[in-house]
Amino acid sequence: MGTAVERVTNTPLPERQAWKNLEHHYASVKGLHLRQLFAEQPDRGKKMTAKAVGIYLDFSKNRITDETLKLLVQLAEECGLREHIDSMFRGEKINITENRAVLHVALRAPAGTSIVVDGQNVVPEVHAVLQKMTDFSNRVRTGEWKGHTGKRIRNVINIGIGGSDLGPVMAYEALKHYSERSMTFRFISNVDGTDFAEAVRDLDASETLFIVSSKTFTTLETMTNAQAARAWALAALGNDPKSIAKHFVAVSTNAKEVAKFGIDTANMFEFWDWVGGRYSMDSAIGLSTMIAIGPDNFRQMLNGMHEMDEHFRTAPFEQNLPALMGLLTVWYSNFFGSETVAVLPYEQYLKRFPAYLQQLTMESNGKHVTLAGNQVTYQTGPIYWGEPGTNGQHSFYQLIHQGTRLIPCDFIAFMKTLNPVGRQHDLLMANVFAQAEALAFGKTAEQVKAEGTPDWLVPHRVFEGNRPSNTILVERLTPSSLGKLVALYEHSVFTQGTIWGIDSFDQWGVELGKVLAQRIIPELESPGEPKLQHDSSTNTLIESYRSQKE
Ligand code: F6P
Repeated sequence: MGTAVERVTNTPLPERQAWKNLEHHYASVKGLHLRQLFAEQPDRGKKMTAKAVGIYLDFSKNRITDETLKLLVQLAEECGLREHIDSMFRGEKINITENRAVLHVALRAPAGTSIVVDGQNVVPEVHAVLQKMTDFSNRVRTGEWKGHTGKRIRNVINIGIGGSDLGPVMAYEALKHYSERSMTFRFISNVDGTDFAEAVRDLDASETLFIVSSKTFTTLETMTNAQAARAWALAALGNDPKSIAKHFVAVSTNAKEVAKFGIDTANMFEFWDWVGGRYSMDSAIGLSTMIAIGPDNFRQMLNGMHEMDEHFRTAPFEQNLPALMGLLTVWYSNFFGSETVAVLPYEQYLKRFPAYLQQLTMESNGKHVTLAGNQVTYQTGPIYWGEPGTNGQHSFYQLIHQGTRLIPCDFIAFMKTLNPVGRQHDLLMANVFAQAEALAFGKTAEQVKAEGTPDWLVPHRVFEGNRPSNTILVERLTPSSLGKLVALYEHSVFTQGTIWGIDSFDQWGVELGKVLAQRIIPELESPGEPKLQHDSSTNTLIESYRSQKE
C-alpha cells in the first residue's frame, strides 16, 4: 500500500475513476439552475447543511446535487484524504520537498496528548513555550515587566512579514473587543520605510516593546525593520546597549541568528520547523495576540482550533465542514473553471481575514507540479480575495452579480454582535441573507418586465442568478470561534491540496524574487556605475532609478 503520500502520487488525478465520473456528471448538471434545484428539492436549504463545533455551514446554494456530493466524497476517498489526514496528525513528513512534518495541529493539542516527530513527543515542548508566553504576557500586561527607564510597557510592536505578520495582525483586529485597551498594538511588515515611520512616530521608546517575529530570522524585510527599530530605540534610550534586553524579544526557530542580532535568547520564544509560517499564528508567533487578549483568551482560541481539528480528523466527509468546503472549491475550480473564491465576512472585526487567507490559501496551493514532480494538467489553488460586508456590496459585488465570471462566495456572519448599536446587526444580517439569495436566484426578464421596466432596459436589469455561495453562521465572534474559523480554512486548504496531489506546505515560488533582489540591492547602492547584466528592461529601470534617487 505505501504511505499516503506514495498513494496519492500513483495515479494522475484526471485518470482517477471518481474524477472521470465527475467530468461525466458535470456535463449533466452544469446547465441546472439553482432555482430548479430548489424547486425540485424543497428541503434543500435544510438538508444541504452541516453543523459542527458550533459552526453552521449552509452549502445548499451550490450548483450541486446529492450525486455531486457523493462523487466528490468518492474523489476524496480515492485521493486518500482520510489517510493523508491521519499522516499529518501522526507527524509524518508530508511536506516532502522540505522533508518536514506538518504539525500546526500539535500547537493546539491538549497537554498530556502525544504527537511524535523524529522519535520525540512534541506536545510537552508546545506547552512549555505556551507557559513561557503566558508568564511573559502576564508580566507585560500587569506592568511588572519594565522598560529600560523603569516605565511600564504601553506599546507592543510586532515586526514580521508573511505568516509572521498576517496571522498576528488579523487576530489582533479580529479579537480587538477582547484586547487590553490601555495598550497600543502595531504591526510593521513592509520593507517600505513608511511602514516603520508611521508605526513609531507618536510612540515613546521607553514604553515600547518590539517583538521580532521571524521563523528563519533572516528575512530581509524583518531584519531591516528590526535594525531600524533598534536604532530608533537606542537613540531614544541614551544609546545604552543594555536597553535592548528590555525592549526587544524574539520569536523564532533560529536561536543562533537571534543571539547574533543581540537579543538575549532567554527572551526568545521558540517554535519549530514543523510549523509552516502561514500556519503559525497559534505558535509563539501569536505572542502579540496573547499580550493583547490575555493568556486565557489565547488558550480559548487554541481550544477552538483543536475542536475543529478533531472534527476534521474524525467526521465523515459528507458532514465534515473543511472537507466539504475544500471539495466544493475543487468542484468550481476544476469543473466550472472558476478562478477565484470571494470570502465575505459580515463582521468588521474580520477586516483582515481575507488578507490572512490569501497567504494561507495561495502560498499553500499555488503549485504547478504534483508531489511526484509532474506538471499538473488541471488548475490548482484559486485566487482568494474579499472585503467585509457591506462595504463590498457598494464596490465589487456588481461583478459577482452581473459579470461574466463565476465567483463562488463564502459569506461569514455571526448571530450575535459584539457591538449592539441600534438596529445595525439586523440590517447587517439582512444583507448577508439577501446577497446569497440574490446571487442564487437572481431576477428573470419576466420579473423585470412585470415591474413595468421598458423593454430596452430589461436586459440590463436581469440577474441571471445561479451564482453559488456558502453561508457560514457562527454564534458570536470569540477567541474560540475565531480559532475554529481559522482551522476550518486551514483544513479546507489541506483537502484541496490532497485532491490536487500537491505539496501544500512548501513555498519555493517566493525564492527567485528574493535572490534577484539580493543581486540588485548592491547595484542600486553602489557609488560607482555598476555593470548591469540583466535584460534591457531591468537594466533601464535600474539606470533610471539610479539617476533619480536621492
Ligand atoms: O514569503 C515567504 C515566507 O517564507 C513565508 O512563508 C513566511 O511566512 C514569511 O516568508 C516570513 O518568514 P520568516 O518568518 O522566516 O521571517
